[in-house]
Amino acid sequence: MADQDARSPVGIEPPALSVLRWAEPPEGPAVVLLDQTRLPSQEVELVCADVPALVRAIRTLAVRGAPLLGIAGGYGVALAAARGEDVARAAELLAGARPTAVNLGYGARRVAEAYRCAEEKRAGRGQAASAALAEARALHREDAAASARMARYGLDLLAELLPDGPHRLLTHCNTGALVSGGEGTAFAVALRAHRKGRLRQLWVDETRPLLQGARLTAYEAARNGLPFQVLTDSAAGSLFAAGEVDAVLIGADRIAADGSVANKVGSYPLAVLAKYHHVPFVVVAPTSTVDLGTPDGAAVVVEQRSGSEVTEFTFPGPASAGAEAGASASAPVGAQAYNPAFDITPPELVTAIVTEEGVISPVTGVGLAELCARSSQV
Ligand code: MRU
Repeated sequence: MADQDARSPVGIEPPALSVLRWAEPPEGPAVVLLDQTRLPSQEVELVCADVPALVRAIRTLAVRGAPLLGIAGGYGVALAAARGEDVARAAELLAGARPTAVNLGYGARRVAEAYRCAEEKRAGRGQAASAALAEARALHREDAAASARMARYGLDLLAELLPDGPHRLLTHCNTGALVSGGEGTAFAVALRAHRKGRLRQLWVDETRPLLQGARLTAYEAARNGLPFQVLTDSAAGSLFAAGEVDAVLIGADRIAADGSVANKVGSYPLAVLAKYHHVPFVVVAPTSTVDLGTPDGAAVVVEQRSGSEVTEFTFPGPASAGAEAGASASAPVGAQAYNPAFDITPPELVTAIVTEEGVISPVTGVGLAELCARSSQV
């Protein structure tokens, strides 16, 4: 197998996406985001100059995806510290902005703890704020490093599972640079496969209702020159039946202690399809997404979002000042809708979980606990 990176057709890597950055005065202090509600048509930055603005950006999905939510939560606490605000309160507000992705609370509380420790050592407020910012930056860097390691472990796993490569991989939601300090989780594995000449096709589920697949994963795939096609979520079954899928690769928002995986709604049906068709179903997520405090899938709080996301097609805009937002009805006025943002895949449907500390397969609570113990020793 050629080990030469297969670059984009013109041999040029696209410039790195600035998905989230910290801005110092005079622009800041602020957390500056690439507004994901506006993609793929517009690359527009959204400046969050205070915690309520960042909470709004999180709720409207201008910033989203588990690892990036952790990073945003961390910088949000650093922002409160820089503004001389109540840091513990800011951490709670940020952690509660969305309930399912465990990384959000992890990032916010970790940076709040760095601030508290600095204060305890009688550092002045300014020094404690610097400690908080340093911790947020460390979190950001760690996520980039974890992403690179997951990509390597993930591709090695695919080589073991599918020795005949190049692979036809199916993915759901968005798990690339738009959700990470690095190149992402599941998407980073597909990207590495592409660079190594081992990706035949990336099947991109559109991911109803907010189209993170069609809008965001396809955007990242196109930027990086991957061979890909978008499909409606409901077309996945016939694709499996036609033998066109070699493996499913997804990320996770929370992995419970028993190995149950909470991820974007539509992941569980894919796992059932994969089991029926004897196709590996692989979850790629950093150990910061494992929550040993959540015993099983039933204990995961699944975010329920507004039914209007299902009954209306919305056009980008609400998170950015001055943006033109619009909607057109996709169901009769007044129709109620069931709109859970995530679903739970039980461990017996998951072939493997790939983390920055290694791969567990089969997925067991004991294996997960060992992996997490290893990561906390680093
Ligand atoms: O509602 P979103 O867009 O924040 O959901 C994101 C997902 O479900 C991703 O698949 C998940 O966060 C894993 S990304 C590494």
